[in-house]
Amino acid sequence: MTPSPSFEGIEICGLNFAGRYRLLTSSIIPRPIAFVSTLNEDGTLNAAPFSSFMIASVEAALLAFSIGPSELPKGTLQNVVRNQEYVINTVPVELAREVQICGEDHAPGISKITLASLHGIASKRIRTPRIAETKVQFECALRTVIPFGESRMVVGEVLVMHALEGLVHDGKIDVREYAPLGRIAGRAYCALTDLISV
Ligand SMILES: Cc1cc2nc3c(=O)[nH]c(=O)nc-3n(C[C@H](O)[C@H](O)[C@H](O)COP(=O)(O)O)c2cc1C
Repeated sequence: MTPSPSFEGIEICGLNFAGRYRLLTSSIIPRPIAFVSTLNEDGTLNAAPFSSFMIASVEAALLAFSIGPSELPKGTLQNVVRNQEYVINTVPVELAREVQICGEDHAPGISKITLASLHGIASKRIRTPRIAETKVQFECALRTVIPFGESRMVVGEVLVMHALEGLVHDGKIDVREYAPLGRIAGRAYCALTDLISV
């Protein structure tokens, strides 16, 4: 017999921003996190997490992340547009607290990198440093910023990918050694512990 479960049809367009945000971010889970490092105007390093993150094109080596509306313009967007470059660092599970700190609002002039006790290391092709405590980093050149309402989708071309020594086996990243952090919502995250093979 064909199962006939009943579904709740939710008109997302009829909801306000908070309602849409709650439903979309609690159903599209877990999300990988782009931990984006950028150079501030004064040359100091900034880092912020963005879990609206995806591969936009494998053949063109494009990664995309989305910056949502905010009262004050987000530093990452300003820096990316001014510098035309940035680094997407991915997040190992042990960096959850540090990433949370960098995802919260702090008084202007406060360095999130210092607050989270993180460190920058030089990139190869761009001026923006990578985050030393992460295992995989992508040096990116800004390709385009696409406006969707007040949100901005940032699309960048990967110039260089860095992987921690020993992480790549047969041309692939070893998932257990990688141990990436997944975003659920708010302060909730997950680890990749139950792997399924079919
Ligand atoms: C795990 C995590 C994921 C986040 N994902 C997003 C996102 O996809 N888009 C967004 O606009 N803000 C996101 N945020 C919030 C930003 O990180 C936050 O606004 C941050 O303060 C921006 O910093 P900036 O002003 O240095 O760019 C996220 C926060 C956390 C903790």
